[in-house]
Amino acid sequence: MNAAIRAATRTAIANEMIVKGIYRGYQGLIADEIEEFQTQHVSNIIQRGGTILKSARSEEFKTPEGMQKAYDTIVKHGINALVVIGGDGTLTGARFFAQKYDFPIVGLPGTIDNDLFGTDTTIGYDTALNTIVACVDKIRDTANSHDRIFFVEVMGRYSGFLALNGAIASGSEAVILPELSLHKDQIVDLIGTGIRKTKNSSIVLVAEHVVEGGVIGVANRVKKEYPQFDVRVSILGHLQRGGTPTAHDRILATRMGVAAIEALLEDQRNVMIGVQNDKIVFVPFAKAIKNEKPVDPNLLSVLEIVSK
Ligand code: F6P
Repeated sequence: MNAAIRAATRTAIANEMIVKGIYRGYQGLIADEIEEFQTQHVSNIIQRGGTILKSARSEEFKTPEGMQKAYDTIVKHGINALVVIGGDGTLTGARFFAQKYDFPIVGLPGTIDNDLFGTDTTIGYDTALNTIVACVDKIRDTANSHDRIFFVEVMGRYSGFLALNGAIASGSEAVILPELSLHKDQIVDLIGTGIRKTKNSSIVLVAEHVVEGGVIGVANRVKKEYPQFDVRVSILGHLQRGGTPTAHDRILATRMGVAAIEALLEDQRNVMIGVQNDKIVFVPFAKAIKNEKPVDPNLLSVLEIVSK
């Protein structure tokens, strides 16, 4: 996110705009936590995880009174347009606000989940993916040495991008995905297809929220039904949400930050900046939020083939 803040700030200043940094997202807009940004406010941040602007989940912004307070702050500061960065919640808020007050907003997709429609990838996703791979590489040492099955829980909200691509990139033996959990019993499948037939150890990535009881539920069931296996669980948690951003994420965020200001200059409004086939695109908020972005089933076949 910092790379995007830096790029948007400097592009706007280069175009003789006045830039105001709003702290803590919509909550900061309501509470008037606003500071004018010069180019040096965004110096030395491209390599930092998190966001210098801080973040907040604002329940108040969802109410008509909260939105009105936010709008009053905008008027008070003479703000003519907003650039917002975030996931589903941020863009949903932007969509309602833009409609209600007929106000120009451009959104940047900032989420490790990669679950926004209309963009091939989102800011933060690649960094989280690389963190998962680095962690699984370390876990594999124990899995191998002790002939164990490890169930490793990864984030992703209700989407399996981190789990599936994390599994492919880390050489994991299998994955349990939210997208499949309604249709079949993935644990029976997992053992039935013989993850342990050719190997003594296995790593299975489990997407969060995938079944009731989460990864612990999955592991307990396997322990009970297949007591011959030596099972362990690891939950990567918020390790995945921080750390030095990868080059890929920094470049993506920089391109998108520049594109956000260019979009406003071209009178684009109420769109999310996306990237498709390496080209910047504009995606209406409604499409980005409402449409499902499925994981590619071919990738599941790829994992199945290479993990045997
Ligand atoms: O949506 C991004 C995300 O990191 C999800 O992958 C995860 O479920 C959630 O946020 C964690 O949120 P919190 O930090 O509020 O627990």
